[in-house]
Amino acid sequence: MSDDQAVRATNDDATMCKSFAVQLGYWKDRFVNLMSRNRSRKTPEINRGYYARVKAVGDLLRMFLKTTANNCQVISLGAGFDTNFWNLQEEDNLPLNYIEVDFAEVTAAKCAYIKARKPLHQALSEDSEIDFIFGLSGNDAVRSKNYNLIPCDLRYINILEQRLNEIGIDYSLPTICITECVLVYMAPDKSEEIINWMGRRFLDAVFINYEPVNLNDRFGEVMLQNLRARGCELKGVAACPTLQSQTERYYNAGWTYAYALLMSEVYQLLPREEIERIEKIEFLDETDLLVQLLKHYCLSWAIKDSTGLGNYLSSLIN
Ligand SMILES: C[S@@+](CC[C@H](N)C(=O)[O-])C[C@H]1O[C@@H](n2cnc3c(N)ncnc32)[C@H](O)[C@@H]1O
Repeated sequence: MSDDQAVRATNDDATMCKSFAVQLGYWKDRFVNLMSRNRSRKTPEINRGYYARVKAVGDLLRMFLKTTANNCQVISLGAGFDTNFWNLQEEDNLPLNYIEVDFAEVTAAKCAYIKARKPLHQALSEDSEIDFIFGLSGNDAVRSKNYNLIPCDLRYINILEQRLNEIGIDYSLPTICITECVLVYMAPDKSEEIINWMGRRFLDAVFINYEPVNLNDRFGEVMLQNLRARGCELKGVAACPTLQSQTERYYNAGWTYAYALLMSEVYQLLPREEIERIEKIEFLDETDLLVQLLKHYCLSWAIKDSTGLGNYLSSLIN
């Protein structure tokens, strides 16, 4: 398996984990099962970890939609089979444009699911075209008023910009970029280019990033070994050794505010009644293992602000 194939396979893994946790009732998502071929059993700490990840990213995204009264764009880079678009559509809470980007192989597979499954294609606006939009390259994609699925290797920022221009991206609209477990698969100079480009190109922007951190200890080494055994190198590990390095890379790229929390801290901040509910779903023998796992992932976000949006968001979060 090539390096890139192994990276793409992480999407199947994430989708499978999300699908399994949804099946057990950790959170509601009637779309994730439509994009998952397999739902093998996962351990309770993995399920709780995924719950915290989905809830935290989802809460920040919804906060942004509320703050901008939905007059905004969402760009999900390395979106894989993410279902936020469909869940927001069901909540009647869509932004003006929801854009997803991933490798052509992944967008082609997602395209096939969207075409084949009614609840998925029904959510698209009526003008939608599915398929062969970037015809010459033969890459499947979706183009519509409210949703665009774009094939692109994120390591080529100029092509990404060109493809976003083709679908009419508006650089003056408040825009949130989500990278959920994506940047860590790229060499640090490539993730830096993305963070720089977002901060430079958009007037008002928010960046949300979820990824591993603190991998320099024994637990981190085992995580890296396990991934290596599956042919997957985390090329971006050097860019995210600590929480401080997470925020520094935003400040170095000119973002106005930057925050980073360990997922163990995020878990403590989630609503108590929700945590009590999910902790009843499965018995967890080794709570220590969950804490260790959560201490090796983080959520970071940055805000570039010309309208006071950042102050408002920060006050909601703190
Ligand atoms: C772990 S999966 C996460 C998927 C999704 N964000 C989620 O959290 O469910 C990582 C995703 O990033 C994508 N990805 C990683 N490097 C990429 C690159 N250079 N260009 C495009 N997509 C990339 C992979 O194909 C995969 O879909």
